Amino acid sequence: MAGQIPQHFIDDLLAKVDIVDVIDKRVTLKKSGSNYSACCPFHNEKTPSFTVSQTKQFYHCFGCSANGNAISFLMEYEGMHFVDAIESLADSVGLEVPRNAQAKQIRDDSKPLYTLMESIAAWYQSELRKSPEAIDYLKTRGLSGETAKRFSIGYVPDGWDGLQTHFPGQEAALLKTGMLIQGDGGKRPYQRFRKRIMFPIRDRRGRVIGFGGRVLDNQEPKYLNSPETPLFHKGSELYGLYEARKAAQDAAAAIVVEGYMDVVALAQHGIDNAVATLGTAANQQHSEALFRVVPNIIFCFDGDRAGRAAAWRALTATLPCLQDGHDAHFLFLPDGEDPDSVVKAGGAAGFRDLMSTRIPIIDYLYQHLASELDMTSIGGKATLAEKAKPLLATIPKGVYKQLALQRLEALIGLSLGSKSTPQTPAPRQAARPSRAPSGKDSGLTPMSRAVLLCLQFPQVVSTVAPDDFDINPQMPGAEVLLKLIGYCDSDPRMTTARLLERFRDGRNHDYLIKLATKPYYPDGSDIDSDGAVKEFAHCISRLRERSRQTLADKVELSARKGLLGLPRR
Ligand code: UTP
Ligand code: MN
Repeated sequence: MAGQIPQHFIDDLLAKVDIVDVIDKRVTLKKSGSNYSACCPFHNEKTPSFTVSQTKQFYHCFGCSANGNAISFLMEYEGMHFVDAIESLADSVGLEVPRNAQAKQIRDDSKPLYTLMESIAAWYQSELRKSPEAIDYLKTRGLSGETAKRFSIGYVPDGWDGLQTHFPGQEAALLKTGMLIQGDGGKRPYQRFRKRIMFPIRDRRGRVIGFGGRVLDNQEPKYLNSPETPLFHKGSELYGLYEARKAAQDAAAAIVVEGYMDVVALAQHGIDNAVATLGTAANQQHSEALFRVVPNIIFCFDGDRAGRAAAWRALTATLPCLQDGHDAHFLFLPDGEDPDSVVKAGGAAGFRDLMSTRIPIIDYLYQHLASELDMTSIGGKATLAEKAKPLLATIPKGVYKQLALQRLEALIGLSLGSKSTPQTPAPRQAARPSRAPSGKDSGLTPMSRAVLLCLQFPQVVSTVAPDDFDINPQMPGAEVLLKLIGYCDSDPRMTTARLLERFRDGRNHDYLIKLATKPYYPDGSDIDSDGAVKEFAHCISRLRERSRQTLADKVELSARKGLLGLPRR
């Protein structure tokens, strides 16, 4: 995706936007010293540990380690995808995102399709108002006109060519969106959906990309969905996410249910944070999309066999997304019930009561595995550990993973080597006044220190004469350092944010982020800009010495090999 937009554009964009404006529009910032601060929008806290640096164009939370540039902020806070975040930032400063010819073509081709889908949804809504039968049906299902409107629910009358009559001359586009089906043997195209309640499916930007249609009676199939089209990929979309986003952010959780009607019925009862998969099992893409919006996912399944199987698939798909700060729960409904029937019988209170029986994902993991084992026996316990390990291995490194492993240890009564006390970071202190270059006390190698300083103080590069950068590019880490030096050198207004952006998709990104947010001194204090200049010069001279040494070693080695008659390499 990122490849569609030229890097130089992204760089210009980051030079033009001000992260303080971008964040302040969404989270009120207070000036504190040379930075801005606020209570972190990515975790719950009472005292502000979220800081935004205008010079670095970078935010960082000392509490939960959230960090990044303006693009990352929009992705995290608004749940936007990379390209959307770029577009939104570009809009805000009046730039147009350039695209390569192919991407531009796809975009230009899709534009009228989105417009068409929106018009179709509007037409279905107007047909609903004209159909007493459809209105009755929705009423018997307990929906108010308001809820129907909120989800733009409509109705498509019976017949083969309603769409063709309403949208004359658009047959090709109607076929592309899957709303018409090509007849066999040269027969005319006909409507895919006939005599159904229509649920528009919106993408994360609110554009209609497909439909789900339900029959009014007991005919089969009960639901019909749009096929895969250039706009609609059902494996990665969630019904109701666009409508639920705000409520889900407020509740800090999204509820995943199985059906269109479950989402709509929950909303009817004031539970506005539900979304549904589109007739497919919840997969990793779904979890990733949700974790971009909320820190917690509550999966809600039927208590029957099929429900349990779907829940296990959701569990395995979600474990890899459980970095610290994310959590997931499972709620099993009584057999034969779905969220729609629960709220219908017991209202929101009935559903909330059930919600209190939800179980944390890790508990569910062990419960599920243990249910087939005799946990009073040694063999049972050993098997539990054996089965759990590969699953736990998919959880990203962090406190969450540690705690999950500890839980396993408690269950089997044996230490498997998890650290018992998760380390809390030392409180961060104010920048110390600069001191004489010490060389040793940062706890980092000279290479890492040089990289850290480049990232945090790009202007240090211009304080060293270009000829002094003749360090051996073969040394570990030198490649990245030299790249950074090149970038900083090319633009005196380089920022931390812009530097990091150039490495976003690279394998060094995580390492660079760590260095960009790491205090320089091991006691947790930062270095100031004067200190940075001195330390940088010092690191570079150390690296130069080392380069000469390694080169000299090589020459000597090769000479010795020559003497011994070995191939020189
Ligand atoms: P359900 O049959 O559980 O749906 O299917 P539901 O929402 O409870 O239906 P009603 O309206 O209350 O009777 C759950 C989901 O599975 C997909 C749909 O996405 C549906 O919302 N499904 C179901 C289909 O795609 N086709 C079908 O024929 C049935
Ligand atoms: Mn139902």
